[in-house]
Formats: sequence, C-alpha cells, structure tokens
Amino acid sequence: MSGLHVAIIMDGNGRWARRRRLPRWRGHLAGVDSVRDVVRAAPDLGVSTLTLYAFSSDNWKRPPTEVGRLFWLLREYCRREQRELRENGCRLKAFGRRDRIPKSALAALEEAEAFTREGQTLLLRLAIDYGSRWAIAQAARELAQQVKAGKLDPDRISVDALHTQLTQHLPEPDLLIRTAGEQRLSDFLLWEAAYAELYFSPTFWPDFRRSHLEAAIAEFRRRERRFGGLAPVVPTAAARELLSATAEALRAG
Ligand code: IPE
Ligand code: IPE
Ligand code: MG
Repeated sequence: MSGLHVAIIMDGNGRWARRRRLPRWRGHLAGVDSVRDVVRAAPDLGVSTLTLYAFSSDNWKRPPTEVGRLFWLLREYCRREQRELRENGCRLKAFGRRDRIPKSALAALEEAEAFTREGQTLLLRLAIDYGSRWAIAQAARELAQQVKAGKLDPDRISVDALHTQLTQHLPEPDLLIRTAGEQRLSDFLLWEAAYAELYFSPTFWPDFRRSHLEAAIAEFRRRERRFGGLAPVVPTAAARELLSATAEALRAG
C-alpha cells in the first residue's frame, strides 16, 4: 500500500448535537455516517491508510451512559459495515488497549477484523482506548523486556528501534486532520505525527464528508514537506540548459 496515510481526530459530535438541542449521543450516531462516507471516499482520493481516533483512553472520564453508547455504536458499526468493508477491499484493524473494551463490542470488533483481513485497498485503523503516551510507554516496556531476556543490547535502543517497536512498520501519517476547530492533539499519535502535515477544519465531525476530505488533501498537496532539510531546488530554464549541454558534452566525450 503506497498511497497517503491520513489520520483524523473526529471531534465535535457533542457540539453538533447541542446545536440541534439533541442529546450528545445523537452526535456520535450521526458521526457514523461521516465515517462511512470518508471510508468510501478515501481510496478514490489516493489514501491507502486511514487512521481514525474513535475513543481515547481519557474518554473514560465521560459519563458511563455516554461511554456505553459509544461502545454500542462501535459494535453496531462493526456488525453492519463489515460486509461492505470487505467488498470494498478495506481491512479494519483496531489499536489501543483491548482489555477494557466491553465484551460484546470487542467480540464484534475482532470478528470484523478477521472478516476483513484480506483487504488490500484501504487499511482502516481505529484507535480505541488509545493514548499515545501509553503506547510509547508500552513500546519502551517491550524493549526493556527484550533487554532483560538478553535479546537486546541497551546500546541498541535507538530512535529507529523504538519507532519500529511502536509502529510495527506501519507508515507514518502524512496528513493529520482534526475537525471541530480545536487545535490540539489530545494524546493522538504524538510520536508518529512528528512530520505529519496538520490540518484543522472548523466542521463538526457529523458534517464532515468526502468533499471536506478532498479539500484537506488538496491543501496537503500544496504544502512543502522538508523533514528538516531544505526545499527542493527547482532549476531555472538557464540552469536546465546548462545541465543538458554539460550532459551532452560528457556523452560526446
Ligand atoms: C468526538 O466528539 C467523539 C469522541 C471523543 C468519542 P466529542 O464528543 O468530543 O464532541 P465535542 O468535542 O464535545 O463537541
Ligand atoms: C479526542 O477528542 C478524542 C477523540 C476524538 C476520540 P476529545 O474531545 O476527547 O479531546 P479534548 O478533550 O477536547 O482534548
Ligand atoms: Mg471533543
């Protein structure tokens, strides 16, 4: 899969609902339509990996009724969408902690993961009970275990080693979108997003559709990524002429 990796912090469900004088969970419910739309659109827009922040480890601080609704929605999403996901070549894979996810949601999630595992067109990653600092600590702990077992020399704990342990060879996000106007990462992909292009959209997640993703990707394509280096030099016409004359002269011996 060599297309873009887009990550999205799907925010603003509660505010979307409040604007309509609806309970917050109705915003989460409406947000599922946005997920479906964006997942369908992603491959057409050159996206091969889509990472969605569905539930943060800090979201446990919310009232149990809201948390319960969110996991109910996750279960329903997996049950209802897995067929279409498979037909469209989407592979669903969750990441984050699994030990606190309610049983029936976890069962549906794992069934959808297994059901879609052959998907080659789009890798759909759902961050569930995820926190980036937790993930980094987890990776550090695993490296420490390898040291303890005598399989890893502590001197070999480098940026690359930690990166591989953390990302399991997945590509880093190219573009990180947050909806609903907030400009923070809320513990999402802190390590992986080191050089991601950030894009903040004022649109509440339940209103976010293909056209919004398209606009974000168009903006991304206009950005210049430097990764700490210098901007690529575009030769002037005169320089190009000189280069080709030199090449010609070299060829002629
Ligand atoms: C994002 O919407 C969904 C989750 C965090 C699960 P919010 O529920 O955070 O919506 P706002 O930010 O309160 O509007
Ligand atoms: C981040 O949004 C988590 C998800 C979108 C799943 P929050 O709404 O929880 O983040 P804060 O509290 O505004 O930082
Ligand atoms: Mg929010």
